[in-house]
Amino acid sequence: MSRLLVYDEQGNLLEKVENFEDIARKLESIGVLFERWDPKVPLSEDAGEEEVLKAFEDDIKRLMDRFGFKSCDVVALTPDNPKKDELRKKFLDEHTHDDFEVRYFVYGDGVFYLHIGDKVYVVHCEGGDLISVPPNTPHWFDMGDKPNFKCIRLFTTPEGWVAKYTGSDIAKKFPTYEGILQLS
Ligand code: LAC
Ligand code: NI
Repeated sequence: MSRLLVYDEQGNLLEKVENFEDIARKLESIGVLFERWDPKVPLSEDAGEEEVLKAFEDDIKRLMDRFGFKSCDVVALTPDNPKKDELRKKFLDEHTHDDFEVRYFVYGDGVFYLHIGDKVYVVHCEGGDLISVPPNTPHWFDMGDKPNFKCIRLFTTPEGWVAKYTGSDIAKKFPTYEGILQLS
């Protein structure tokens, strides 16, 4: 089940939100998009990029028109990927992007940590969820020890995705993917 956990900057848990509408409303109030999409036709886990994009073409077009995205692609990661630890590490430190970051989880899951104002919004996203990270918002992401997901990404410019690390070690005060999943 998708979940939002709100923390203060010291890593104290303030609030837990589990209902989809409540999560979407709370995230909307801080400028973050949270939607649930369904494919037009059932998709198997090994569906190719073209098939995946086709199954979500209406939603993709809606966001492209609304936000001016120019392109999209599909990325997948499986637990047997030899580069999984390296890839995990790349997103574990707080960073920003010039571009708007949008991810739709076709299947699998991951945890986004959004540092907005004096709070950290931890969102455990699962298959069917779409989340956005507004431009220049400090954030990090944990895919866990055994990453398993397929995501659609939307871009305005490829260069906008270059991660700029903030140099902060705030991420270390927070539970990792495994810790977030264990929280009851
Ligand atoms: C990214 C996310 C995972 O930078 O933070 O692509
Ligand atoms: Ni990022």
